[in-house]
Amino acid sequence: MLSTGPQLRLLQLLSCVTLLLLFGGSSAKRDLKSACSTCRKITDDFGKGYDRTAKQNFGGGNTAWEERKLSKYETSEIRLMEIVEGLCDSSSFECNHMVEEHEEQFETWWFKRKTKHPDLHKWFCVETIKVCCPKGTFGPDCNACVGGSERPCHGNGMCDGDGTRGGSGECSCSHGYEGEFCLDCIDGHFNEVRNDTFSLCTECDSSCKTCTGGTSQDCDECKDGWEEDDQETCVDVNECSEDASPCEEDQYCLNTEGSYSCKPCDKVCSGCTGEGSDKCQACAGGYEDAEGTCTDVDECSQSEPVCTKEHQKCINTKGSYVCICEVGYEEEDGECLQPPQPEKEEETEAEETGTRTEL
Ligand SMILES: *[C@@H]1O[C@H](CO)[C@@H](O)[C@H](O)[C@H]1NC(C)=O
Repeated sequence: MLSTGPQLRLLQLLSCVTLLLLFGGSSAKRDLKSACSTCRKITDDFGKGYDRTAKQNFGGGNTAWEERKLSKYETSEIRLMEIVEGLCDSSSFECNHMVEEHEEQFETWWFKRKTKHPDLHKWFCVETIKVCCPKGTFGPDCNACVGGSERPCHGNGMCDGDGTRGGSGECSCSHGYEGEFCLDCIDGHFNEVRNDTFSLCTECDSSCKTCTGGTSQDCDECKDGWEEDDQETCVDVNECSEDASPCEEDQYCLNTEGSYSCKPCDKVCSGCTGEGSDKCQACAGGYEDAEGTCTDVDECSQSEPVCTKEHQKCINTKGSYVCICEVGYEEEDGECLQPPQPEKEEETEAEETGTRTEL
């Protein structure tokens, strides 16, 4: 028991060191990848600068002396400087730092190596300052990616750190592929072609969860919403044919491939088997069955009147009716009354006339 304390402390210390190593390691790897992409950008921009200055010369007149000099601009230090100055945005620290640090290397290449090593990226980034690796290789020693440098990840994925001095060389597979070597197919895909170095994964039929071929007969297992028939083919389950409808009362069930949906019944129905007023199980209130279709009941023309108050008239509506007062009557407390005669207005007019007459 006494030894638990120190042991625990040692364990804690060890895990701290491990964490440091892990994080230190991963950020260093990231730096290595970004150093390579900085270098790649520099050499790409060098190429652009080279093209841009191709038709330039020292400028000025056209004397014999200049004519002679003109042919020299092509390989001059001035042209090199013009190219190098255009390599980095002033805001890019990494780029400016790299160019400044290796300015001499550009001169060396420009004057001594260009002819023998025309690929500046390869000479500068890969072989000289060693921040990149050849395509298909990764890490400090430029080892081959998983699956080989010719076709990393067997052409079905991306190799971590590909072309840089960083990364792990492991594959992240393209859609449809899985496994360390990106040769296996994910569920829902099958190997159309496969050998030790080559794999082509194709999507299964939409009825399969897993399969060995491209049709609904090639399923190993059916997808949800599909079931195997007696010919071992995956066929759609008709969820709507089951005894208890999976839908609500005022909905009908619509079967779809691999699934179903619930749609609202027509307003004239009370329960239905499909879309429209002729697919009702029963008619909604205010509607009656007329030759298989639910149609509006005209309450106003029934033998028994529905609007019973005096001076009321009946107006039929879809699924119902309303009682309103006849023209000339207004509703008050549920009764249809004749509004009082507009006497007041006449009195005012008379008064006014009277006043004017007096004047
Ligand atoms: C694997 O298959 C591919 C494509 O069919 C073919 O090009 C390659 O030669 C094959 N490799 C082997 C080892 O059989």
